[in-house]
Order: sequence, then C-alpha cells, then structure tokens
Amino acid sequence: MRAVFSSLLLLVSFLSACQAHSKCRNVPGSASFPNATAWSAFNATVSGRLAPVVPSAKYCANLPCTDAQWSSGLFRSTIPGAMDQINFEQGYDLNPPSLCLRNSTACGQGDVPIYSVEAETVQDVQAAVRFAGANHLRLVVKSSGHDHLGRSTAPNSLLIHMAKFKDVVFTDAFIVGGQNMGSAVTLGAGVHAKDMHYQTGVHGKVAVGPPVATLCPAGGYFQGAGHSSISPLLGLGADNVLEIQIVIASGALLKVNNISNPDLFWALRGGGAGSWGVIISVTVRTFPTFNATISTITLDLSTNAAAAAVAGVHAQHIFDFDSVRGGQYFFLQKAGNSTTFLFQTFMANATLAQGKGTAHAVPHRRARTARRFPALPGFRYHEHQRRSLPSGRRRSQQCSDGVALDFNGGVSKPQRIYDSSKGISRAFGWRSARNPGKSRRRSLLQITGQVSANANISSAVHPAWRTAKTHLIVVNIWEDTAALADINRLRHEFQNSQLTFLEQLSGPNAGSYSSEGDIFEPDFMTTFYGPNYAKLSAIKNKYDPFDLFIVAVGVGSERWDEWGICTV
Ligand SMILES: Cc1cc2nc3c(=O)[nH]c(=O)nc-3n(C[C@H](O)[C@H](O)[C@H](O)COP(=O)(O)OP(=O)(O)OC[C@H]3O[C@@H](n4cnc5c(N)ncnc54)[C@H](O)[C@@H]3O)c2cc1C
Ligand SMILES: *[C@@H]1O[C@H](CO)[C@@H](O)[C@H](O)[C@H]1NC(C)=O
Ligand SMILES: *[C@@H]1O[C@H](CO)[C@@H](O)[C@H](O)[C@H]1NC(C)=O
Ligand SMILES: *[C@@H]1O[C@H](CO)[C@@H](O)[C@H](O)[C@H]1NC(C)=O
Ligand SMILES: *[C@@H]1O[C@H](CO)[C@@H](O)[C@H](O)[C@H]1NC(C)=O
Ligand SMILES: *[C@@H]1O[C@H](CO)[C@@H](O)[C@H](O)[C@H]1NC(C)=O
Ligand SMILES: *[C@@H]1O[C@H](CO)[C@@H](O)[C@H](O)[C@H]1NC(C)=O
Ligand SMILES: *[C@@H]1O[C@H](CO)[C@@H](O)[C@H](O)[C@H]1NC(C)=O
Ligand SMILES: *[C@@H]1O[C@H](CO)[C@@H](O)[C@H](O)[C@H]1NC(C)=O
Repeated sequence: MRAVFSSLLLLVSFLSACQAHSKCRNVPGSASFPNATAWSAFNATVSGRLAPVVPSAKYCANLPCTDAQWSSGLFRSTIPGAMDQINFEQGYDLNPPSLCLRNSTACGQGDVPIYSVEAETVQDVQAAVRFAGANHLRLVVKSSGHDHLGRSTAPNSLLIHMAKFKDVVFTDAFIVGGQNMGSAVTLGAGVHAKDMHYQTGVHGKVAVGPPVATLCPAGGYFQGAGHSSISPLLGLGADNVLEIQIVIASGALLKVNNISNPDLFWALRGGGAGSWGVIISVTVRTFPTFNATISTITLDLSTNAAAAAVAGVHAQHIFDFDSVRGGQYFFLQKAGNSTTFLFQTFMANATLAQGKGTAHAVPHRRARTARRFPALPGFRYHEHQRRSLPSGRRRSQQCSDGVALDFNGGVSKPQRIYDSSKGISRAFGWRSARNPGKSRRRSLLQITGQVSANANISSAVHPAWRTAKTHLIVVNIWEDTAALADINRLRHEFQNSQLTFLEQLSGPNAGSYSSEGDIFEPDFMTTFYGPNYAKLSAIKNKYDPFDLFIVAVGVGSERWDEWGICTV
C-alpha cells in the first residue's frame, strides 16, 4: 500500500517537474482548448468575422478557382489559409507529414491555422489578441502571406488576417513630438505595394517600398529592414519609418515613434517581422517623384564557362553604378545546361542616353533583349516572377538565406571581395556541374549609397546592411509533386552545402537578412540580428512577456519548438 502511494507521489511530482520544464500552448484535444461555446462567444466579439481555415488547394477545390486565380498573388492574399508559396502550407515536418496539393484527393491541414479572424477594425484585433492570450493559443499574423520563411502560418493556430486594412492617408506635415517631419503617408497593414506605389505616384510622391506588387510594406517588410531598387538613393524602408500603430500582447493599442515607446520603435525597424505585436498601420516619409530609367538586359548562355565569365565581368564593374546611386538586381537562373542572366538597373534622373551609357557596364554583347524604359514617374513594379511559370503548375521555393557580402571596411575600401572577381564568377558558376537538371535561382541586389549613409540611424537594422555592397539570395525550387525525400534534401541544401561556398567569399559571420533567410539557420541570433539580439530580447520581454508573438528565427523563438507550440 505504502509503496504504491509513494510511487504515485513520485509520479505526480515527476509530472509537474515535466510541466515546469516544457509548457505547451492549448491545441485541439488539450483539456483547456476553448470549446464550441467559447469560440462562438469569441466570434460574436469580432462581429462574426471568425472563419474556419483550410489550405488553399481545398479552398480552391470548393470554389472552384480558375488557374489564373490559383496563381495570382492578389487573389491568394484574400484566401484566409493561403500562403503565396504553397510549400509553406505543407506540414513536411509533421509526423506523419500532412500535405494538401492542388487537385489531390487527400488533403491534410498541414501547417495551416484552424481559425482566422478576418479583422476589419482595431477592436477585432484587440479581441483576438486577448482571446489568444487568455486561452494560451498559438497566434499568427498575416498581411499578404508572402513571407519567405512561412512565418505567417502555423499548425493548430489562430490567425489574425490583416488583408482588409487598406487605408492610405497622405499628409504634407507629419508631426512627431511637436516636430514637423515633413511629407508622409500612412499605410494600413493590408495595403499592397502596388497600391502604395500607385497612390504615391498620383500624389507626385515616392516612398521606399518593394518592387513586388503584392507584398504588404506595413506588414512584414519594414519590420525586417525593407530593401528596394531605390534604397541606394533613399535608404532602407525601415530608415524612413516615422510612426507605427500596433496592438501589443496586452491588447493595448500603442502609438510608437521616436518619442512615444522609443524602445519598441527601435525594435520594430529591423528587429524582425512578427515578434512584436499586430501592426495596424505604418507612417513613412515620402519624397518628391523623379524621372528614372530602368535598363533590362537578358543574356542566355549555353555553357557554364560563359556564365562564369559574365559573372566575373559583372563583378569587376560592380561599383560603376555607385556615382548615380543606381539600384541593380542581378538574377541568375539555371535550367538544364543553360544559364540565364537578367540585369535590371534602376537609375534616378538619368536620361535614356545616360542610362544606356551606364548600362554598358553590364556585359551585354550577347544580349537577347535590351529594353529601356525612359522617363518613368516613380518606378515600375511587377507581380513577381510566378507569371512566367507554366499555367496550372506551381512550384514551391524556399529562400535559403540571403547573405550580405560584408566588406568590413565600409564603402571606402570595398575591394576585399570584389577584387576577387574569379571568386564571384565561381560563386555564380558553382555546383553547376552537379545536379544539372535542377533549377535554382541566385539573385543579387546592389546596395550602399544612402543605405550606408544612414548608418547613424538608431534602429535594430543589422549593421551589416551599412557596409555591404550586395545582398545575395539563393533560392532552391521544387515541383509541388516532388518526392518528400527530394523536397527535404532541397530544404536543407543551403545549410548542408551552399553556405560553405558562400562563406568562402564573404568570410564567416557576414550577416544575413531575417526576411530572406533560412528557417534552419542554427545561429539565427547572430546571423540575422548581429549585435542587437540582447537588446531586442529585453524589449521583447517588456512588450510580450508571455511570448504570444513567436515566429521561426524571430526574437524569443529559441525558447520554442519549430511550431511555436511547446517550450524547449
Ligand atoms: C516575391 C517576394 C519578393 C520580395 N521582395 C522583397 C524586397 O524587394 N525587399 C525586401 O526587403 N523584402 C522582400 N521580400 C521579403 C518580404 O519583405 C518579407 O517576406 C515580408 O515579411 C513580407 O511581408 P508581408 O506582410 O507581405 O508578408 P506576410 O506573409 O503576411 O507576413 C510576413 C511576416 O510579417 C508578419 N506580419 C505580417 N503582417 C503583420 C502585421 N500587420 N503586424 C505584425 N506582423 C505582421 C508575419 O507574422 C510574418 O512574420 C520579398 C518576398 C517575396 C515573397
Ligand atoms: C465550455 O467552456 C466553458 C468555459 O470556457 C464552460 O463554462 C462551459 O461549461 C463549457 N461548455 C460545454 C458545453 O462544455
Ligand atoms: C462566426 O459567425 C459568422 C456570422 O454569424 C458565421 O458565418 C461564421 O461561420 C462563424 N464562424 C465560425 C468559425 O463558426
Ligand atoms: C529622436 O529623439 C532624439 C531625442 O530623444 C533626438 O535626439 C533625435 O534627433 C530624434 N530623431 C528624429 C529622427 O527625430
Ligand atoms: C520628367 O521628364 C519630363 C520630360 O523630360 C519633364 O517634362 C518632367 O518635368 C520630368 N519630371 C520630373 C519630376 O522631373
Ligand atoms: C548538356 O551538356 C552535356 C555535356 O556537354 C550534353 O551531353 C547534353 O546533351 C546537354 N544537354 C542538353 C539538354 O543540351
Ligand atoms: C532629380 O532631379 C531634380 C531636378 O534637378 C532634383 O530636384 C531631385 O532632387 C533629383 N532627384 C533625385 C532622386 O536625385
Ligand atoms: C487542377 O484542376 C483544374 C480544374 O480542373 C485544372 O485546370 C488544373 O490544370 C489542374 N491542376 C493540376 C496541377 O493538376
Ligand atoms: C545622420 O547624419 C546625417 C549627415 O551627417 C544627418 O543629416 C542626419 O540628421 C543624421 N541622422 C541622425 C538620425 O542622427
């Protein structure tokens, strides 16, 4: 009798020790998960805007969606459960894996939330944050669903979907703490970049934002840092943020700027998307519009040697655009034996003739097409590259870590890497001999200019941005129907092999961009946040003491498992 008793006691104390060690949020099946009555009462507090969520393939089977809708980023952003890239809806790492692909007969919930609040008011957001906090739910926030790390979706979660916050408000005199900060625009969290660019253009203004139509600048973009083709001219997106309206974990709506909650203001500009609260709107500086030239050059090369040579010549000319603060994207895509380069250079106030002259710095002797757009107000945007994919098929991509090539020496002595154009040419030609059939993309953004000049702005932007010449991204792509083993190999390819090669060029600890990085980055605190992590961590504890807002490789995520469900 006594023996049984003591072992029972032992068992009880063992269990509570265990609970103290690892605590989990409530998921369906947990004793404290809200019942149907509680969900229904919550639904009433958000005016009936609580929607059940299904993966986009299931949603599209029910509708049904046309092929054009299925592959439209704009349409997809209206579907509560949809991510722009459907790989992020798949539960590859769940046991067993849970997938839902287009037209498949079986469909699992995967990494898609259970319910979504299709928020329309600040009160909806506050009610959802308080309900999630009180019931220990996994909470995720989404504006466009474009996230390259899939941070706006999670299994067994409640989603706050911000797509309906579409207000765009202009002012000529934005006041912070009594000081006139000049002309500015306030963007709702759900405003697409294309609407921001269009509206600012109509007002004779320009604001720093992404060239991709369907991203939401006031969602994840500014929180990450926000690079743009006009960053060499006007700085990073985050450099131009003046104020943020945000609902924090307590449910309070805060005005955040240089005077009011300045510590959170510091963190929200560069400290990583999704870790701080639910942003309602962001106010950013606007600038007078200007004429610009965009030069687009496409080269198709049939041998690896030719491709490597072009990359080498390009590297030798990498500083040619600095004097005009030109922004350049440089894409390389391999398919089979052939390599396509695309150079897209943006030059403000350049005439067509000047644009042509400068564009000669790009080796284009074998150019297939060279189009130039003269005198554009503002700048052009595109609904990103998916348009070129065969209709009806979608390919998934995982962005495997953007590595900022850091010169350590600032712009004054940047030669360290680019003197070694052989190295660059190897970087772009690398692995081309192996896996020749696999399609992967590398893209490079040229920065410096105002990005370096803004080094004195006090924000959580990784300081590597201020000294880097280029931001290099590697994307591994697979067909949705690929075998799981192949998909998993590709998902880990960056850590397993590609990173080693890049580090030979950049040196160790070059730093990387949290919004275009690898979710498997083991040393994410240093890689994505550099010297800022300890301060970010303290600010997180102050505004989100119970870790309601947890995203992969975000501040505080070291305390949680891959899904943000249980502490580790
Ligand atoms: C095709 C493509 C092109 C890109 N081009 C660029 C580029 O040119 N420059 C650049 O800097 N980045 C670029 N990115 C990366 C982009 O900045 C990030 O993916 C960014 O997080 C997208 O924000 P979103 O709100 O649109 O996406 P979402 O998927 O909706 O959200 C992304 C992250 O932000 C959080 N978030 C979203 N809304 C809110 C909110 N209202 N409040 C709080 N947190 C929120 C989410 O929780 C998630 O962590 C690109 C991404 C893609 C897919
Ligand atoms: C549902 O949960 C609430 C507590 O949140 C409880 O009071 C109520 O009795 C439960 N209802 C049912 C039908 O179980
Ligand atoms: C919330 O209420 C609305 C309106 O009554 C209803 O259409 C919707 O299905 C409810 N949501 C859930 C998850 O039950
Ligand atoms: C922010 O406030 C500090 C003082 O708190 C001031 O020195 C600084 O100039 C302000 N910055 C901006 C951009 O207003
Ligand atoms: C752009 O160029 C056109 C034609 O050269 C000129 O009329 C116009 O004033 C320019 N606009 C700006 C904003 O400089
Ligand atoms: C690719 O190159 C290899 C080796 O030169 C050659 O055998 C093969 O036929 C080429 N494939 C295509 C599709 O051109
Ligand atoms: C473009 O040129 C105009 C007129 O000279 C000038 O006022 C403006 O500052 C320039 N803009 C940029 C971004 O260089
Ligand atoms: C799925 O079905 C739709 C509608 O029948 C069709 O148009 C589409 O091509 C199919 N897509 C795939 C990937 O099978
Ligand atoms: C940074 O330096 C520039 C030029 O030296 C100055 O104009 C600007 O006000 C400074 N910004 C801050 C935030 O200190």
